[in-house]
Amino acid sequence: MLLSIQDLKVAFRMGKVNGQMQRALAVKGVSFDIPENSTVALVGESGSGKSVTAMSILNLLPDNAERQGKILFQGRDLLQTSLPELQGIRGREIACVFQDPMTSLNPVFTVADQIMEPLVKHMGMSRKQALVRAEELLNEVGIPEPKRRLKAIRTRCRAASSSA
Ligand SMILES: Nc1ncnc2c1ncn2[C@@H]1O[C@H](COP(=O)(O)OP(=O)(O)OP(=O)(O)O)[C@@H](O)[C@H]1O
Ligand SMILES: [Mg+2]
Repeated sequence: MLLSIQDLKVAFRMGKVNGQMQRALAVKGVSFDIPENSTVALVGESGSGKSVTAMSILNLLPDNAERQGKILFQGRDLLQTSLPELQGIRGREIACVFQDPMTSLNPVFTVADQIMEPLVKHMGMSRKQALVRAEELLNEVGIPEPKRRLKAIRTRCRAASSSA
């Protein structure tokens, strides 16, 4: 098994009331496996805990989150892994494509910067090699005008810029 989530519980500390810490339980004991070379979709209604479950895997939750259970990745429990070890896994073995480009892409970075970061950090490429690879990747997925796109930054929104 590539990834095995076992009885994962996630609670958010919400502050004290009468000296008593209040917690909101967001994930209430979820278990599932992801076999190698497979595509698995986690489906559920809004607010059911899909994002919190996914963010638990790489420990990308805010500081007031408490996780319990097991997240086994190639035999290692990611809930027990140190931050440096986790940083070696993030972006290299497990990556996250975030839902909302407006809050998840840094407007200071170009498209090239965003794509090159894991290639330089994790794949040992030089910036020059990474730039060539970034253009190839945009081509591979059929993005038109890849050279122009590489220099682009996240803009506010397509509709707004075309109507302006
Ligand atoms: N930082 C937080 N503090 C407190 N509660 C949170 C926090 N983040 C998420 N929650 C709560 O955890 C629950 C699960 O949220 P989550 O974002 O995982 O839902 P989701 O299944 O991804 O929904 P959607 O389909 O809308 O993306 C929700 O009740 C949400 O309000
Ligand atoms: Mg979500």
